[in-house]
Formats: sequence, C-alpha cells, structure tokens
Amino acid sequence: MRGVSWAWEVVLRLILKNGRVSYESRFSVLKKYISKILLSVFIVLGLGCGQSSQESKIQRLVIAIDATFIPMSFLNDQGELDGFEVDLIKAVTKNAGFDYELVNIEWGGLFGGLITKKFDLVISSITILEERKNRMAFSIPYLQSGVAVLVRNDISNVESLEQLAEMQATIGAQINTTSYYFLQKYEGIKIKTYEKFGHAFIDLANEGNDGVVGDSVQVNYYFNKNKELSQKAKFLGSRLTSEFYGIVLRKEDVELKRKIDASLTMLIEDGTIQKLHDKWELGEFAAVPRPENSN
Ligand code: ARG
Repeated sequence: MRGVSWAWEVVLRLILKNGRVSYESRFSVLKKYISKILLSVFIVLGLGCGQSSQESKIQRLVIAIDATFIPMSFLNDQGELDGFEVDLIKAVTKNAGFDYELVNIEWGGLFGGLITKKFDLVISSITILEERKNRMAFSIPYLQSGVAVLVRNDISNVESLEQLAEMQATIGAQINTTSYYFLQKYEGIKIKTYEKFGHAFIDLANEGNDGVVGDSVQVNYYFNKNKELSQKAKFLGSRLTSEFYGIVLRKEDVELKRKIDASLTMLIEDGTIQKLHDKWELGEFAAVPRPENSN
C-alpha cells in the first residue's frame, strides 16, 4: 500500500513542480520515486511468496510397511504396494493433512528403524503390547485381530494346542510376533521360526512343520486363496486370541500421535475403515474396534 501512496506523491510533486523546475530534475525525481515503488512492490511480492510457500509446506512422513503380509500389505501384480493397510494409511495421512511416502521394510527392521529415525511411522499389523509400549508409542487401535492355528490334515485326532504340545509337534511362526509368543506358552511344542510369515506356509505344504500359527487375517487369507494349503491343512478352532493393531510411533512424537489418533477416530466413526475391511474381505477374522478402545 505504501507503493500506491508513493505513486500519488510522484504525481503531485510533478504537478506542483511543473513549469518551475527543469525537465532533468523532474526526471530525476521521477526516477527516485519509481525505484522506491519498484522496491516496495518487490518487498510486498517477496513477503507474499514467502508466506504462501510456508503455508504450502506440508509435513512429509516416511512410513515403513512390511509388504509380505497379504491382504494387509503386499506388492501387487504391478509391483505396487497394495492392501488394507496401504489404503488405511493413505486415508489417515490425508485426513490428518500430511504428505507421506511408504518404504517397504522387512519385519525384523521395523522397530529399530523407527527408533533410529529412518522413518516416522510404522504400519504392519502390529499388535499393541505392553512390552512394546516400553520402547514405542501406539496409535489408538484400528483393527481387532488375533492368532489362528492351522494343522496338517494327516495329523489326526488333534483338537487343541495342548494335544499338539503332548505330541511335541513342530509348529511354525514368524519370529518375534505374537504368534511366536503365543506358542512359547505351550511347553512341549517345538517352535520353528521364520523371518517371513509366508515361508511358514510353504514349509507346511512341504511337511517341514506340523502346523502354523499366524495372525488370523493372514491365516484365513492364505487358507482360502491357496488350494494346496486348504487340501493339506485344517483350522484348529478359529481366532484364538484378541489383539489390537496400532500404528507405531516414537514415544517423543506426542503431537504426531495426537493428530494420527484424531484422524483414526474420525475414520472409524465415519465408516471409512469398515469400508476398507469389506473391500479386503477381512471377514470375521478381524473387526473394526470402536474408537473408545484407546490405549
Ligand atoms: N500382529 C503380530 C505382531 O504384532 C504379527 C505382525 C507381523 N507383521 C508383519 N508385517 N509381518 O506381533
């Protein structure tokens, strides 16, 4: 606005001085004011640009995901990240006003990478556990799940894990997961661990183990999609535990947790997460919790 008043001043000065001063001095006055006007225009524009670039600076989160956990997160036929949690994190970040980038990290590297700040968040069907809460923070739960057990068909007369323990069966599980911790409770069971969840199933098909424990959604999915597996194995009961998945954060990122929780709450309440549950056919093996189940 100062530029405009200077412009008026120039005009007035030129009118007043008209006839009394030389063409040269009028020209130099004009030059002086023009340069002032230009300067103020630049300042105004400069400030304006500065402001808008600050406003458009959206925080970009780096989010780790283990893409070996169908139907939660996996690489599709086009080699792109896909699945329930890929859709979920897209909705959560968008709703919370963040930009994001997904990085595909193996199960074993997720927690260490978060703590050493290689990424800002982890979403990978991670169960909220008290022991994990000592090192990391969790969002409110977005899915209720649990463990499910498959045993080989040719192992007859087994109805329970106690029986599997008695017969000292070899049961597979992904290392350091809740399935692995679950099996540790049954003395007698020989636990065979795998870095990748899918390998436990391949091993079952090859009779490298007598059964497999895994997260109910994945076990169910593999069982239904894989003909060979469904001919070779059967469920021992259905979902045997109740667990809740949360997005994992660093403990100090309190403000980020607040925003992620608020976003998740909205998406649970407005039915978005239930729609994703339907889209990915998670069935009765997983349920969308009510937002008051916070932790
Ligand atoms: N829910 C289980 C846990 O937290 C298994 C998670 C495994 N996730 C994965 N992406 N491999 O221990």
